[in-house]
Amino acid sequence: MGTISASKYFYLFMILFLGFQLSHCSVTYDRKALIINGQRKILFSGSIHYPRSTPDMWEGLIQKAKDGGLDAIDTYVFWDLHEPSPGNYNFEGRYDLVRFIKLVQKAGLYLHLRIGPYVCAEWNFGGFPVWLKYVPGISFRTDNEPFKIENEYGSESKSAAGHAYMTWAAKMALDLGTGVPWVMCKQDNAPDPVINTCNGFYCDYFSPNKPYKPTIWTEAWTGWFEDFGGPIHHRPVEDLAFAVARFIQKGGSFVNYYMYHGGTNFGRTAGGPFVTTSYDYDAPIDEYGLLRQPKYDHLKELHKAMKLCENALISADPTVTSLGNYEQAHVFSSKSGQCAAFLSNYHWDATARVKFNNIYYDLPPWSISILPDCKNVVFNTAKVGSKTSGAHMLPTNVRTLSWETFNEDVSTNEVDAKITVVGLMEQLNVTRDASDYLWYMTSVVINPGESFLHGGRSPILTVNSAGHVLHVFINGQLSGSAFGTRANTKFTYTSNVNLHAGMNTIALLSVAVGLPNDGHRFETQNTGVVGPVILRGLDHGTKDLSWQKWSYKVGLKGEAMNLASPSRTTSVDWLRGSLQSNKQQPLTWYKAYFNAPRGNKPLALDLGSMGKGQVWINGQSIGRYWTAYAKGQCNTCSYAGTYRQGKCQYGCGKSTQKWYHVPRSWLKPTQNLLIVFEEIGGDASKISLVQRSITYV
Ligand code: GAL
Repeated sequence: MGTISASKYFYLFMILFLGFQLSHCSVTYDRKALIINGQRKILFSGSIHYPRSTPDMWEGLIQKAKDGGLDAIDTYVFWDLHEPSPGNYNFEGRYDLVRFIKLVQKAGLYLHLRIGPYVCAEWNFGGFPVWLKYVPGISFRTDNEPFKIENEYGSESKSAAGHAYMTWAAKMALDLGTGVPWVMCKQDNAPDPVINTCNGFYCDYFSPNKPYKPTIWTEAWTGWFEDFGGPIHHRPVEDLAFAVARFIQKGGSFVNYYMYHGGTNFGRTAGGPFVTTSYDYDAPIDEYGLLRQPKYDHLKELHKAMKLCENALISADPTVTSLGNYEQAHVFSSKSGQCAAFLSNYHWDATARVKFNNIYYDLPPWSISILPDCKNVVFNTAKVGSKTSGAHMLPTNVRTLSWETFNEDVSTNEVDAKITVVGLMEQLNVTRDASDYLWYMTSVVINPGESFLHGGRSPILTVNSAGHVLHVFINGQLSGSAFGTRANTKFTYTSNVNLHAGMNTIALLSVAVGLPNDGHRFETQNTGVVGPVILRGLDHGTKDLSWQKWSYKVGLKGEAMNLASPSRTTSVDWLRGSLQSNKQQPLTWYKAYFNAPRGNKPLALDLGSMGKGQVWINGQSIGRYWTAYAKGQCNTCSYAGTYRQGKCQYGCGKSTQKWYHVPRSWLKPTQNLLIVFEEIGGDASKISLVQRSITYV
């Protein structure tokens, strides 16, 4: 089948292409549904992004999706992974899209391929390779030749250029002649025959832009992502099931769960900024690949109930009758005599007793009952089975590790610096995202006669940063740190600094925590120390340091030395037995070896004792951690009230993420190399490996 879908709020643009099961199947659509081999279908699909798990997990995840009653798997294509530098392609390992698709096919499921190139997805730079920003004359996702030559799609559909671009993208996609329909999500003006579709917590208000197009929900949000410093989100399955049933009873025929398995933002793939390494999403399959109950089973039961109604749903339009102030019946009666009914109660906290076809039915608040024969209720969206899952992180024998340390030596940085210029440079322009880290270094001379303890206090340094994190080192000593938030990445660091007579070095370590993945022209957002940088409280008044000479160094010494790699060639003087004195030492690398715990339970590192940094196992990056970032505000919710907003939150006052997924397939039986880089200071002696165990009761 052939469909197009694209774009969203903030002028986001994406193209979706709806895929195949057998190479010979034909896919078309009409106003009711997608039509596969001549047959209209009610389809359930789930997003599983291949690089957010490991290839050894894929088959199991896909099978669980199938067992959960899904017909299709949906994934984006992540351009940044596949073309890390222009013309160099990578489709290996976690990036093996073809292998993933073949596994979907082998399981007998359809594939919904969202080719992007823009993916949003809380992914670094929305999936664009960072080098794309440096193609001369380029502007992302709008009508300009360099972007199109790079074979891109985009939309600023409210502007003339956006409209022209969207139309061009649609035509280009159709001209590919894939033989399957295309969809554009949140693109109200998607040109024929492209189908515009809906993304959201609820989509029952949605209709396609032409009466002859089917009603498709490309992202039914099963939960939400987390950002460091934010709470944990939870979407109760009662609300999700209610939303899906409400969509189908209105005539919807395709629902994709975003996410069905969220997985992990390994390495530096998390976007945001501030998006956590976990992308669990409160999805029916959890980050570790285990079933989340009752979410998984409840949706499975919903899908079964819907399939029992499928013939009626695809062949008739609903007749809607009011059964009370908040109650309705949607009845689908086909000419061949099938009848399916949906009885709904939209009241958020009152149960309703309704009479339908002379029978009384009790409907819990905020719920829909499904009657595949217009008589017997087989499912109610609010009646969740008793099976619940409790996830526990249990200890393994990997607890007391024998650590060695290596300190980043800040003092020689200036010597190694490759760039020295007058003024402050934007971070990405210097790093091109080769590292999270950029050093900004300058010096200040305090004359012997000059009092730098003006009024009895030390001078005050003020640094303005566009984001995301800053560690300030004065004469090689950490003087303080500051950081922004996801909502506001900009911040100002202000603190007294200890200067002495003579030359003082000021070294600012600016740290990116994932590049933005959405927002208007997000590729133009600044990161790093944009200034001004000001020193106040000296005898000579205020000194603006912004316009003096600054030296720049991309990345850490440990990165240049490849400390995380097992095949590192340079020799390194790791210090043994130095842990005690290193406890609160910033900029420290830690190294230990461990043997893999027996069994096949999913594993995680407990980094609860650490501050902020990155972690690697056998050279593979587990991702960024930022255990020290906890936030105190949560929306709490009780079912029928705030659940409806789609966001319930918990975990306030605690670290947003304490456990970091360690894929089993990255481990050898013995001698696994664990490397941790800590920015602020932490207690590595308390790091342990835990295993995830779920009990279903
Ligand atoms: C959607 C977007 C997804 C993801 C989601 C939030 O609008 O299409 O890629 O970013 O928001 O998780």
